[in-house]
Amino acid sequence: MTQTKDQDRVVIFDTTLRDGEQSPGATMSHEEKLEIAGLLDEMGVDIIEAGFPIASEGDFRAVSEIAKNARNSVICGLSRAQIPDIDRNWEAIQHAKRPRIHTFIGTSPLHRAIPNLDMDQMAERIHETVTHARNLCDDVQWSPMDATRTERDYLCRVVEIAIKAGATTINIPDTVGYTAPRESAEIIRMLLERVPGADEVVFSTHCHNDLGMATANSLAAVEAGARQIECTINGLGERAGNTALEEVVMALRVRNDIMPYRTGIDTTKIMNLSRRVATVSGFAVQFNKAIVGKNAFLHESGIHQDGVLKNVETFEIMKPADIGLNEDNIVLGKHSGRAALRSKLKGLGIEMGENQLKDVFVRFKDLADRKKEVYDEDLIALVQMSDDAG
Ligand code: KIV
Ligand code: ZN
Repeated sequence: MTQTKDQDRVVIFDTTLRDGEQSPGATMSHEEKLEIAGLLDEMGVDIIEAGFPIASEGDFRAVSEIAKNARNSVICGLSRAQIPDIDRNWEAIQHAKRPRIHTFIGTSPLHRAIPNLDMDQMAERIHETVTHARNLCDDVQWSPMDATRTERDYLCRVVEIAIKAGATTINIPDTVGYTAPRESAEIIRMLLERVPGADEVVFSTHCHNDLGMATANSLAAVEAGARQIECTINGLGERAGNTALEEVVMALRVRNDIMPYRTGIDTTKIMNLSRRVATVSGFAVQFNKAIVGKNAFLHESGIHQDGVLKNVETFEIMKPADIGLNEDNIVLGKHSGRAALRSKLKGLGIEMGENQLKDVFVRFKDLADRKKEVYDEDLIALVQMSDDAG
């Protein structure tokens, strides 16, 4: 079990290979899934949700192999609240050093209408399926899908049933990205206060980003007592995606002064994983995406570049190297100033006096007006032109 009594430790549950892969068009090949699972394991992800074994033969095979290969991470498979689903899931994960069964059912009024179960029938189903899962595996996670739109009294009732039946982690999904930070926290606080046995289990938060609040909602849940965050690399996931792993992990690291919780993630592996997931899923990362976007650490304007060159902390709240990014963070464009130009030239091994620098700067500005970005090769050509003219 990854349950922790260490109150400062937040467990990171990555579902890139399950909820992330459910994103239309994000399907990954068998080999790609194994590669991503290996990288997640190496990065220190506590739990990897490797897939949905009953969904397809391919998913079953991938989850089984990931389970066999995992070195440190708990390997989790997803199953609906049905006995054959749970059995198939167990078949796939049982060879993991540390297996976890995750089972779920939609508990909100809209979701209860789908299997046409009334509240009592659903409660009975939860009891039966969680008990069955716990008879197979010591580590059982249960999720009331669409929890944030479930009647609060009923949510307390079904969570209590799941705990009594043996669930060790209770995950609270905001399935349609509907909640907001205050409510996300209130739900966790309410469950911890009202449900008997709540202090014996780990509460987890699983947020979707439909209103752009997944990261804020996840962190609010942690502040209220949740100790597991479910997330995906690059926020990959259905519709607007899931909570982005890199955002919650770096937020907890950078603002540890006001959110004093630790994860076990080696953050220097974030950038490489982000790039691999973008490549294998075919989902490019938006340029201005927090933490891993191409522009997240770049400075183009003269004022910012000048500040960063004098003291990097003027415009950077974290170091690029903290996420494994070791590239130059100064990009030359029409907003850049002379200090940045001088620094770039120095980086290229080109030193010059003030007069020539003035000349190159005029040529540079002229080019930058016509071109979005001025590359190293452009600079070398400009210096050559200036040498020839001089
Ligand atoms: O969003 C959701 O409700 C889910 C559950 C299956 C946990 O992904
Ligand atoms: Zn989800």
